[in-house]
Amino acid sequence: MSIDVEHFISIRDHTTARLERFLEVAFLLRNQRQMRGEHAQSLRGKTLAMLFEKPSLRTRVSFEQAMNELGGHAIVLSQNEVGLGKRESVADVTRVLDGMVHGIAARVYDHATLVEMTEYSCVPVINMLSDDSHPCQALADVMTMMDEFCNGLGSLSGRTLAFVGDGNNVARSLAMICGKLGMNFILASPPGYQLESTFVDEVMSENPTMNFEQTHDASVAVKYADAIYADTFVSMGQEDEKEARLTTFAPYQLNEALIGQAPDHAIVLHCLPAYRGVEITDGVMDGPQSRVFAQAHNRLHAQKGMLATLLGG
Ligand code: CP
Ligand code: NVA
Repeated sequence: MSIDVEHFISIRDHTTARLERFLEVAFLLRNQRQMRGEHAQSLRGKTLAMLFEKPSLRTRVSFEQAMNELGGHAIVLSQNEVGLGKRESVADVTRVLDGMVHGIAARVYDHATLVEMTEYSCVPVINMLSDDSHPCQALADVMTMMDEFCNGLGSLSGRTLAFVGDGNNVARSLAMICGKLGMNFILASPPGYQLESTFVDEVMSENPTMNFEQTHDASVAVKYADAIYADTFVSMGQEDEKEARLTTFAPYQLNEALIGQAPDHAIVLHCLPAYRGVEITDGVMDGPQSRVFAQAHNRLHAQKGMLATLLGG
C-alpha cells in the first residue's frame, strides 16, 4: 500500500527545489520572529504526534516549540507508553494515529520502521532521527552555514563541508544535502567506519559533478573546509561498542591542533549532544570558530519551515 502524501524521512526523497522551499520558509519565519516578534499561525488546529524510541533534547523541544509557535499542538509519546512494534504493530499504531493527528514524527532505531509508517500513513511521517539518517538536523545545519556564508538564505554551491568522525546517520544526511545544494563533502573516518560504497554511488549518481571524498586523515579533510563537523563517536544504540569506538576514533577529535590546519574562516559545527574532551575539546567547542549553539537554535527554525510547508499546505 502506498498513499500519496509527502513525508520527510530522508533528504534523498526531496528535490533541491523542495529543500530550498523548506529553507526559504524557515528563514522567513525566523525573520518574522526576530524582527517583529510575530509567529505565523499557519498550523492553527493542526496536531503533530511525536514518538520517541530514544532520548532527545533539541529535537523534542524544537518540534514541540515549532508546533506551538505556528499555532498548532504537539503530543509527545514515549516508547514506554506506546510500545511501537511491541505493544502494538508499527502498522496499527500508524493507522490509529493518522486518523487523529495531522503529522507523525518519530525517532527510531531502525529506519525500516519509518518506511513502514509511510506505507500506512495518510499524513506526513517525519524522521526525527534513525540509524540511517537525521534529515531535520541537516536542514538546520544548512541554515547555519547559510547564515555564515550568505548572511541568510543563499547559495552554498562550491562550499566544502568536512565531517570528522563516524560515517553515521548525521553524516549520511549531510552528504546528501551537500550533493543537492552543490556543495563538496569530505568524510574523515577510521577504516571500517566510512560511508558505504552503495551510498556514495547513490549520492554521486544523483549529483555527478559533486566532489565527495573519503579519507582516513582528518588533517586532509579539514584543509580546504568551510565548515568542520563533529558528532559523537558512539551513537545512541551503540553503547556496547563504546570502549572500542573511543580508542579507534581518538585521532579524529576536533581539537585546536586540527582546527589550526583548516582555513581561518572555517566554522565548527556539532549536532550535539557533545561529549566534551572526547570528539571535541572545550577550546574548540567554545572557541571563536564554533557555531554550535546557533546551529542548535536553528533546529527550531528549520523545523518550522519544514512543518509549515508539509502540514500547512
Ligand atoms: N541533535 C539532536 O538531534 O539532538 P537531540 O538528540 O537532543 O534531539
Ligand atoms: N549520531 C548521533 C546523533 C545524535 C543527535 C546518534 O544517532 O546518537
